[in-house]
Amino acid sequence: MPGTVEDVDAPSASDVLRRCRELVRPALVDAVGRLHPWTGEMAAYALGWSDTAGTPEPGGSEGKGVRQALALLGAEAVGADAACAVPGAVAVELVHTFSLLHDDVMDADALRRRRPAVWKAYGTGPAVLAGDALLARAVTGLAGTPGDHAAAAVRRLCDALNDLVAGQAEDLRFEHRPWDGPGAVGPEEYRSMAEGKTGALLGCALALGAVLGGAPEPTVAALDRAGRHLGLAFQAVDDILGIWGDPATTGKPVHADLRRGKKTHPVLAALAGGSRAARELGTLLASSRPTDGAAERVASLVEEAGGRAATRGEARRHLDAARDALRATPLTRTAARELDVLFAGLADRVM
Ligand code: IPE
Ligand code: MG
Ligand code: MG
Repeated sequence: MPGTVEDVDAPSASDVLRRCRELVRPALVDAVGRLHPWTGEMAAYALGWSDTAGTPEPGGSEGKGVRQALALLGAEAVGADAACAVPGAVAVELVHTFSLLHDDVMDADALRRRRPAVWKAYGTGPAVLAGDALLARAVTGLAGTPGDHAAAAVRRLCDALNDLVAGQAEDLRFEHRPWDGPGAVGPEEYRSMAEGKTGALLGCALALGAVLGGAPEPTVAALDRAGRHLGLAFQAVDDILGIWGDPATTGKPVHADLRRGKKTHPVLAALAGGSRAARELGTLLASSRPTDGAAERVASLVEEAGGRAATRGEARRHLDAARDALRATPLTRTAARELDVLFAGLADRVM
């Protein structure tokens, strides 16, 4: 029932994620096992299951499995058994892994989850190929879903992939746009980029669960909207962690976005403030891309000009919008509560 999710006892976000990972794991292992052995080895490394020698590394650098959990909860939220969403969960997890492999090549980021990125460990060509293999396997697996919903599910996944690629295109193009003045990246452009690169797949994960669970289109659309808002909150948090995060916790280098001229929310928001710190920041950014020492100075000016606080606010607003989208939709109580807990857990990494 809508609006009555608070009164049910719910497990913690990590309990929910663990339960979902356990449900999806055999199908995910099977999907990776169907890859060519070489791309399969790189996929297993990327998923944190093994080291570069192919030796199992249990629990090493595995992701949280947010997208697979959203797919299962999407099905449960519309009254279906989680098992029907497992092919969707596998597909979004493989697509996510593919997108990270290629993203680290595009962003020249050498570290992912505290380990060398796949392109650093295996080479750029092999990493691109492993990404391709994961993408192809994701679509093939989803197309083979038993029952009547495979075609609709594949269509949804492909729509999300198109949005993700468009978002990544904007993200890369923005690196070459000015920070200020004519041609600067505006708030709506940032939002569209972030929704594409991060929100589309999170929305798709939830929506796929509902599609595979046989839900009507308005419910599917509401879950997709909730996931997209979650993605925008998630990206705002990611942008904050990229400037002020501790690499020991994030597993990624700090200030990489600043050094590449990435148009992240905290910096854009800081510049929009027009304060003295904002003007100094604008001058510094216009002179050159910050190297290590200058990146520290940029980070403190962004903070002083209110960019960090503004981005926290942005994350909070999108988290609220995501929760509102869930509450406005008729969903089963237990799954709605678990989604709420999961949403909050993901956004409060910096709040
Ligand atoms: C990643 O965006 C989006 C995709 C992988 C599609 P970012 O480049 O901002 O994310 P991180 O910081 O590398 O994880
Ligand atoms: Mg990146
Ligand atoms: Mg990127």
